[in-house]
Amino acid sequence: MNATAEATTEHAAGAAPASPAGPIDAAELARLPLPPARRLPRAAQVIWFGQRQWNFVFANRARFGDVWGARGYVPGRAAVTCHPDHIQSIFRAPPEQVPTLAAESPLRPVLGPDSVLTANGPRHLRQRKLLLPPFHGEAIARYERMIAEAAEREIGKWAVGKPLALAPRMQAITLDVIMAGVFGIEGRPKPNTPEGRLRLAIRQVVRSSTLPGAKLAELMNLGHDEPFGLTWLALLIPDRCIHAVIAKRRRDPDLESRGDILSLIMRARTEDGETLSDRELRNELMTLVLAGHETTANQLAWTWERLVRTPDAHERLVAAVRDEANDAEEVIEQTITESMRSRPVIPMTGRRVAAPWRLGDYGVPAGTPVAMSILLLHHREDLYPEPFAFRPERWRDRKPGTYEWIPFGGGTRRCLGAALAMAEQRVVLRAMARRLDLEATTSKPERPKHRNVTMIPAHGGRVVVRARRG
Ligand code: HEM
Repeated sequence: MNATAEATTEHAAGAAPASPAGPIDAAELARLPLPPARRLPRAAQVIWFGQRQWNFVFANRARFGDVWGARGYVPGRAAVTCHPDHIQSIFRAPPEQVPTLAAESPLRPVLGPDSVLTANGPRHLRQRKLLLPPFHGEAIARYERMIAEAAEREIGKWAVGKPLALAPRMQAITLDVIMAGVFGIEGRPKPNTPEGRLRLAIRQVVRSSTLPGAKLAELMNLGHDEPFGLTWLALLIPDRCIHAVIAKRRRDPDLESRGDILSLIMRARTEDGETLSDRELRNELMTLVLAGHETTANQLAWTWERLVRTPDAHERLVAAVRDEANDAEEVIEQTITESMRSRPVIPMTGRRVAAPWRLGDYGVPAGTPVAMSILLLHHREDLYPEPFAFRPERWRDRKPGTYEWIPFGGGTRRCLGAALAMAEQRVVLRAMARRLDLEATTSKPERPKHRNVTMIPAHGGRVVVRARRG
């Protein structure tokens, strides 16, 4: 076994059986077989994966085990793994050895090739360093009051007795929050301002991504740096709005003293002393706004989709919050952790390994895309007994393991907005549990629907408000 591969196997005893993983030399690569794969044309795999990723990954795991090959969105024969040791070997590798696959995903033409999510190498490190402080836990604590106000405002509008889909309602809250952080606006931007128009345009883009044909438009954009066809059309107005916001901010006499993220990145200089161009600013802003609201909103919708169908967990949460029990914070945290385990809104993330890599009994050559199935990892029986049950109390005496619970990914690409997303979920979940009696509209669980890189409840998390307090 290779020294690096050996060094990366360390996790809680009694969990998944150890499995060697990490970079290997040519001799070891020659000795190890490639991961097994179905003999299906790439187009068939892309359609199966794109439409029913849940079914695709579970079917492959049942047939092949922890590691298997697939052909998908990105060029080359990918390897998919769900073993914590393999994931650890990738998250702990130096960034140049494991560039992100987001750089090749359908997000690239929408967000541009140089944003913090799509860039690799020194550019990524520089942008990440710049953006980390405003997304740090302490900075986020300042937003809590604002999140609570946005949640109360939204909840107050819901009619009692009428079914409603939670995802768009949650998006209204999380979009206000991210717009406030990124653009430094208190509360909801006025509709007749450039920021207000941008907010509307962003909601339109998100809505249009659910229309029939969106999947096709997404596929047609693969491999492009610039948006193409329908995607180009969908981005025309938001782009115009975002450039209007940038132009307004460039003229702002208070630019030097402002603390919001747009002002921060507008003032920042590259190593050559250059500032970011309007196009680069647009790409960064679009990334933060898009990555920063839909994910959290859909995760919250999933949490309620699960809660209204799991009476024990629902009652425990509501009682802890309404009685202001000593363990209320823990119950909230356990509920969120379990929701992100059982319905990770981003079910897969990946890297293209720059060296030959060992993944358990298999070896893959340099240049192989390695996808980490968050969904499969989170449903391993050896890590999570009865993995399909929604059971927040499984976290009562257990902390989420760094390579066993990865809804925010990991390593140098770990989600930049994780602290913000957690704060939003805590505050919104608490406000909803305190004020609303919610019920499911059907006893049947909502099917996961795969849109772009996300996994969302097929009907947006439909519930009925039975009563509202306060
Ligand atoms: C529940 C909500 C969220 C989930 C589940 C989520 C999940 C993820 C995942 C899985 C990744 C890829 C990590 C990897 O490949 O290792 C990611 C990256 C990222 N996320 Fe989030 N995210 C959420 C909310 C947010 C928010 C609120 C923001 C705010 C700006 C954000 C900004 C980003 C950015 C900028 C990246 C790219 C980081 C990099 O490549 O360096 N996300 N997120």
